[in-house]
Amino acid sequence: MNRRYRKTIIAGNWKMNKTASETKQFAEDLKAILPKGKWCEVVVCVPFVNIPAALRAFKDMRVAVGAENLYYEPKGAYTGEVSAEMLKDLGVKYVIVGHSERRQYFGETDITVNKKVHAALEAGLHPIICVGETLEQREMGITMDLINLQVKSAFSGVPADKARKCVVAYEPVWAIGTGKTATAEQAAEVCTAIRTAIRSLYGARVARSITIQYGGSMNPKNAFELLSQPDVDGGLIGGAALKADQFVDIINAANQE
Ligand code: 13P
Repeated sequence: MNRRYRKTIIAGNWKMNKTASETKQFAEDLKAILPKGKWCEVVVCVPFVNIPAALRAFKDMRVAVGAENLYYEPKGAYTGEVSAEMLKDLGVKYVIVGHSERRQYFGETDITVNKKVHAALEAGLHPIICVGETLEQREMGITMDLINLQVKSAFSGVPADKARKCVVAYEPVWAIGTGKTATAEQAAEVCTAIRTAIRSLYGARVARSITIQYGGSMNPKNAFELLSQPDVDGGLIGGAALKADQFVDIINAANQE
């Protein structure tokens, strides 16, 4: 990470876990152990229905609340969907876009991801754009080409002043929820390639200001080494973000680096 040019962001992605009461309990547990000093930005991305509870519970804790998804149309007949404006109006700051689970199970593509990035930025939200290769793609040797394509499509048509508000998360699909973490070298290599792709789109100043996270079985044991890589500026954490003590251990690792 490089604190001089960009924010370090440790974000939890709860996925489809926890009820509103469990959200409150998590916040109480976190409050008791969250370090006071603030190097890194702490974000908790929760299911839509838990957003009001999370906003209430984290209000006086300097923990930002994020959503896990949004729909790209501003309003209308889209039963079951949630717009960027609805999230912004509640007080949400971040929104995960294009998580591999959404690409895999809910038909998201680079095109819809790009539309969602535009919608989020238009509403003043910070999109956390997820990119990453499957094991098959890694074994085929196309990781870098694929990441390049995912990054360039996600940012397509986004002007530089808005691009600066984006976060990119490198999440190798084979490392998500599997306990198989990418090595620090693998994470570093791809995160550097992501910054290079952004540099080719916007130039060096924008590229160095964008936070790039690693996600995929990040835990208290491997966080420090991953976060020590120059282009790894934070983590997007699934399983280990569901327990306040593990989440805080990762935050501490980020503060220590
Ligand atoms: P795990 O940390 O459970 O592997 O999940 C990572 C992830 O998908 C975060 O978005």
